[in-house]
Amino acid sequence: MDSKEETLKIPTHVGLIMDGNGRWANAQGLPRLAGHRAGVENLRGVITAGIKFGIKYLSFYAFSTENWNRPKDEVFGIMDLLSEFIDRETVPLHEEGVRILHIGHLDRLRPSLVDKIEYAVNLTKNNRKITVQLAFNYGGRDEIVSAVRKIISSGARPDEVTEALIGRNLFTAGIPDPDLIIRTSGEMRTSNFLMWQSAYSEWVFPTTYWPDFNEEVFKEMLREYSRRDRRFGGLSSK
Ligand code: IPE
Ligand code: IPE
Ligand code: MG
Repeated sequence: MDSKEETLKIPTHVGLIMDGNGRWANAQGLPRLAGHRAGVENLRGVITAGIKFGIKYLSFYAFSTENWNRPKDEVFGIMDLLSEFIDRETVPLHEEGVRILHIGHLDRLRPSLVDKIEYAVNLTKNNRKITVQLAFNYGGRDEIVSAVRKIISSGARPDEVTEALIGRNLFTAGIPDPDLIIRTSGEMRTSNFLMWQSAYSEWVFPTTYWPDFNEEVFKEMLREYSRRDRRFGGLSSK
């Protein structure tokens, strides 16, 4: 065990698709919102684990542009839970050196939630121990559409449109691409998360439901990542 831990490769940026809250709740006869509550309560511990592992960027997929299709009660319940999380955790996270960023569109969110997100982002903007991106009302295709709109309205010529220019117009401008993406609950699809940025990410799919995802499962995923041979279209360096 110890020798394995010594050879663990630590990714710079890990994306987490926090899936399985509903099934977690269902498995114990609880309403879906109880699963979302447990899921939000799990965030803090996973951030702490990320800091301990030496990861510099964590991106959490909390609410997709498609999640508006869920029943109103569930959507509003999730919004309330995020509001509570920001109220409770912004100052403690700030004191731990966490920079909080938001990716996605703020426009469909209620003004009080927008204020809270902006407050958290502003308060923590100079922190560098770890950067936590909260993907909330985020969709990868929506992000690319927004980038294209910004580029067109800037008056760029076709030959000026490069991968770098597109990257600079995404919500994630200035943030390195994710090395590893973890989707919990056993579902094996991207569901519109970081579409552009994940072109060469390694993906892992633990069967654990998000509320049960912890440091131990996280470490197992880092072991799996460490065994992967990332070639980026070239040849193996081994
Ligand atoms: C993930 O859990 C949280 C959100 C998508 C907001 P789900 O709510 O998708 O849980 P399952 O997939 O129904 O178990
Ligand atoms: C993806 O999970 C979005 C988040 C975890 C926020 P979903 O549960 O919404 O994805 P699908 O519908 O199963 O693809
Ligand atoms: Mg789901």
